[in-house]
Amino acid sequence: MRYAEITGWGKCVPPSVLSNTDLEELTDTTDEWITTRTGIKERRIANVNVSDMAVVASRHALAAAGLEATDIDLIVLATCTADVVIPSAASLVQAKLGATNAAVFDLNAACSGWIYALNVGTQMVRGGGHKKVLVIGAEKLSHLLDFTDRGTAVLFGDGAGAVVLEATDEPVGVQSVEIGTDGSVAGILCVPGVGTAGNRYQGDPSEYAIHMDGPEVFRRAVTAMGEASSRVVEQAGLSVEDVDLLIPHQANIRIIDATARKLKLAPEKVFVNIASYGNTSAATIPIALTEAIDEGKVTPGANLVFAAFGAGLTWAAAVVRWGARVKPLGLSDAHLPSVEKTAMELLESNVAFYGDGRRSE
Ligand code: UT7
Repeated sequence: MRYAEITGWGKCVPPSVLSNTDLEELTDTTDEWITTRTGIKERRIANVNVSDMAVVASRHALAAAGLEATDIDLIVLATCTADVVIPSAASLVQAKLGATNAAVFDLNAACSGWIYALNVGTQMVRGGGHKKVLVIGAEKLSHLLDFTDRGTAVLFGDGAGAVVLEATDEPVGVQSVEIGTDGSVAGILCVPGVGTAGNRYQGDPSEYAIHMDGPEVFRRAVTAMGEASSRVVEQAGLSVEDVDLLIPHQANIRIIDATARKLKLAPEKVFVNIASYGNTSAATIPIALTEAIDEGKVTPGANLVFAAFGAGLTWAAAVVRWGARVKPLGLSDAHLPSVEKTAMELLESNVAFYGDGRRSE
């Protein structure tokens, strides 16, 4: 039987930091509200595009796996904020990496996208058609935010994470997985005006930003992430005691806590880094996985649970059994170009576009 082992991992977070205190200047909010209601203290704002962050994360993942870009035969890039509509961001990544032997495509399942992509990459390896796959989650959510809308501006950030999957006979990698969608309620989390449905000649500026019914998304996320996590643990033939680490999508600390409670997991078995980056959509889990490994929280043979929820409305959960190696085979010095501007300066045109109306509804 063929399996797909995660052999490399890497992240890229842009250098410009936007703090909760900065947000107090942009919209009607407070550090205290954001911290207690979401767990977020700061997030990163990119001065580059999604493909640039994806390339840096991928270079770290390739080095950790001891591979060259030309060894990769498939790239699946989970994103809902591709640089442009055509070509795919994955195509730009392929060119920048020099991954000339890879077939590539983007996958949009919003915040659940990286688990979807992990599932697709795993199946492609298991099917026998591919041997070495890059599975990336990369997002520039700041581009889709109205920073005067406190209901969304405080939640999201930019970043990328990547893993390398390699074919193996060892029974490691994805052990069980569930992906699902309820499109009938997709309207509660959407960007109505970006895409071919938008009115490109007379667009209303608010249509270019994320619209979200936060409490309704919250309620559904708690149910879906908790239930899907429980099901994949059971499908993998595990009990809760066998779970070594839950690495959940980082959308809200209260959603993470509720998911952990549903699984009856102790807090030390849950990886949380939401305070530093906020919700980077498809990038949260591969960034968190990379940090968990760097911090020694992923041990050889560990049973990891991933769970996510997002626009679509999508959800996903997976059990991954880690292999024997938790140290990178090599290191890369890849990084983004330095940036002169602060996060607040990077957002000047956003604020000019949406006005300083301190929109609260
Ligand atoms: O990955 C999937 C993507 N999205 C999510 O996962 C988001 C899921 N939803 C959430 O995380 C939460 O619903 C939010 C963080 C968005 C909102 O938290 P909440 O506890 O559900 O607050 P709420 O929307 O029910 O609002 C409670 C109060 C309201 O004021 P009143 O009516 O009680 O006076 C809001 O107007 O908090 C107010 N409020 C804020 N106040 C200060 C809402 N946002 C803010 C804010 N700063 N940023």
